Amino acid sequence: MSQHQIIAKKFSSIFKVAPQLVVACPGRINLIGEHTDYNNGFVLPAAIDKMITIAISRRKDNLLHFVAVDFDQQFKGKLDKLDRSPQLWPDYINGVLEQFRKKNFAIGGLNIVIGGDIPAGAGLSSSAALECGIAFGLNELFELSLDKFELVKMAQAAENEFVGVRCGIMDQFASMFGKEGHAILLDCRSLKYEYVPLDLHQHEILLMDTRVKHSLAAGEYNVRRKQCEQGVTALRKVYPQVESLRDANRAMIEYTLKDLVPETIYNRCKYVVEENLRLQVGCEALRRNDIVTFGKKMYASHMGLSKLYEVSCPELDYLVDLAREEYSIAGARMMGGGFGGCTINIVKKSSINEVIERMSIAFKARFGIEPLAYKCNLSNGTHSVSGKK
Ligand code: GLA
Repeated sequence: MSQHQIIAKKFSSIFKVAPQLVVACPGRINLIGEHTDYNNGFVLPAAIDKMITIAISRRKDNLLHFVAVDFDQQFKGKLDKLDRSPQLWPDYINGVLEQFRKKNFAIGGLNIVIGGDIPAGAGLSSSAALECGIAFGLNELFELSLDKFELVKMAQAAENEFVGVRCGIMDQFASMFGKEGHAILLDCRSLKYEYVPLDLHQHEILLMDTRVKHSLAAGEYNVRRKQCEQGVTALRKVYPQVESLRDANRAMIEYTLKDLVPETIYNRCKYVVEENLRLQVGCEALRRNDIVTFGKKMYASHMGLSKLYEVSCPELDYLVDLAREEYSIAGARMMGGGFGGCTINIVKKSSINEVIERMSIAFKARFGIEPLAYKCNLSNGTHSVSGKK
């Protein structure tokens, strides 16, 4: 039985009727362009074949009944009293419901069962997947005719306003707009995007999970965002046209900002400007199947994230150091918000198993715990599996 069938069946056994809609919502990876989204820059994420399945039906009243199969937990609440929950996972659903209510869309009570295979806390955006799936489901069930852009923005707003993480738009965008076999080159300022075919030939994508949960991350994430804003405020005194770090160039950072702000702020801004440039070069390299150049940009990205942006951790740094020693790894870097989660590695298919083994042994010797390894393929974005449309 597929994951979708299992979740649909669970729904039927709990609520004694089949779900009206089953939605598949994928997790995401990001090839390059980290912490650039909320600076109006570029990102290169992709949806993957690890996903959350949501079975969902309307209720006749205003009550909410959610079940999370993987946690063996349930949540009961009311649509007109949406509060944070100590269980955390209901917040991603309730945050989206709040957005729909704020915009005065006529929605009602819901029965929902969720489950999936996106490892939580691994930096693969299970939360964004859940938000996108709920937004998508509400749009279908209540026939609201919203387009995907609006759904993505509401999913992001749920995370910003209800959960309190001032995340950018990358995760939700990737989960909603993913396309099989493709990465998405997204301009986070204009939301113009382009699908980039990802043909890695004899290479494949390997994620190595430190198993360090990024619990510190939310606070530190918001701090990074603020530091970038401080950099922009300082730059604007000299260059009023600079609205975000997207508008800044290397010279502005090196010759102007450096003398205006403390070193930490300078480092943060320098990283962001350089990462946008790396993404451009890296993307061009990918288009001509130059994996070697792309890999070098990944290593440089990690260096910046670790030393200038300071969102890595010893476990992530060590996995990237190990990758550098592997002849069959073209490039590796930490991925996502940071402080734990996964590294993304571009590895020669023929050596992947031995690489995983070597890295696992070395990592365990250093940290006393085995990392997890995930191979992944690029998949389509949020879509209904059965039910309406
Ligand atoms: C988290 C956020 C994204 C993005 C990344 C870092 O995943 O949700 O918006 O900022 O971190 O690139």
